[in-house]
Amino acid sequence: MNKTLLEKDAEHLWHPYTPLINKRPYAEVVSAKDMYLHLADGSKLMDAISSWWVNIHGHGNEQLAKAVQSQILELDHTLFAGFTHKPAVDFAMNFLRVVACDQSRLFYSENGSTAVEVAMKIAIQYWKNKGEERTTIVALEGAFHGDTFGAMSVSARGLFTEAFESLLNPVLFIPFPDGTNDEEVLQQLETYLQKHPVAAFIYEPLIQGTGGMRVYTPELLARMMDVCAKYGVLTIADEVMTGFGRTGKKFASHYAARKPDLMCFSKAITGGLLPLGVTTCTKKVEEPFLSADMHRAFFHGHSYTANATICQLALTSLLMFESEACQANIARISASHQAFVNKRKSHVKIKRIESLGTILSIEVQTNNSESSYTHEIRHFLYDFFIKKGILLRPLGNIIYVLPPYIITNQQLEEIYAAVDEMLIALP
Ligand SMILES: Cc1ncc(COP(=O)(O)O)c(C=O)c1O
Repeated sequence: MNKTLLEKDAEHLWHPYTPLINKRPYAEVVSAKDMYLHLADGSKLMDAISSWWVNIHGHGNEQLAKAVQSQILELDHTLFAGFTHKPAVDFAMNFLRVVACDQSRLFYSENGSTAVEVAMKIAIQYWKNKGEERTTIVALEGAFHGDTFGAMSVSARGLFTEAFESLLNPVLFIPFPDGTNDEEVLQQLETYLQKHPVAAFIYEPLIQGTGGMRVYTPELLARMMDVCAKYGVLTIADEVMTGFGRTGKKFASHYAARKPDLMCFSKAITGGLLPLGVTTCTKKVEEPFLSADMHRAFFHGHSYTANATICQLALTSLLMFESEACQANIARISASHQAFVNKRKSHVKIKRIESLGTILSIEVQTNNSESSYTHEIRHFLYDFFIKKGILLRPLGNIIYVLPPYIITNQQLEEIYAAVDEMLIALP
């Protein structure tokens, strides 16, 4: 008997963050265009979360598709040890210009986790090359920096890490600055830096993503960075989610008075078509590596490092992102979200509502006061929006809207109206 696609999937494929016996059937996507995913049953879903925050220019973009096709025919891929090429150099030069923040050197990898992994390894080897043994990293409670071992180590302990806990690197966590505990956060950071051989402090600038779309201020960020500067500790800004206009400015680090030493990027970097990770650093960080000695070289490299096709795609996406039209869309979405937040601020069924640029997050009030990724309300919320034809993927009792920048005002209103209806239907 011929098995269906879903049956073959259930028998042989492994999906992320999902039990192998999955009680909720997968939706089969057959095509995607602009704001919509088209499903095998003939229905369509508005992609209000940019397919895990990657897709900024909408699906099936022709300019990006053409860039990929012509680059494959010109130079698809080559190893990057001993070789270089124009797409890698052109993207790097343009990207460093847009990121600014004194970033002057760039390392390619494939995703957000590896961008973080590379930053951590560079930070630790920075100290080794300088003759100091500093290996401890400080991170924020509630953080999410990825799924590889290093990235897991600096992420919050919990469901994502519990099977691996005994194997994670030594990391010190400071409280999340929730607006009530600034002095405690700064004091804890300073105590750690005084007492431990800390190599670097890693943070998601201004907003924690997977940790619940929680916002903190640029002033506090700058003060945390001041403490790091006082002890010579490197700072690593993980812009994997916040980069490329998500927070309203091109990069979240542009809000803070101090500049990070290292930065990590991925997700929207290619417009959401193909995987790419990038880690950048300042001249200060590269300095102890400026040597012909192999023992001072950075030993990290993947088969697909600086894939020419993906670099050319990222360059094309970057130029589209910089365009006036795209920047105007970011400002329009940001204003629209803010207006919605202002209108719903004191809603009885909303525990917390905030927006930062194009990110809107709403934590709903439930009988069970705890906020967690596995909060049972997430199934109700997910299904409610799916029935309305909108893809939102709640983090427990927190829903967030993080749309492609091509979303129209009408589509935004459709989402807000669905949120209002959800609040009425909320059990
Ligand atoms: C801030 C941050 N860093 C790193 C990552 C890991 O990125 P990836 O899933 O591409 O490995 C994520 C993923 O959500 C993230 O939000």
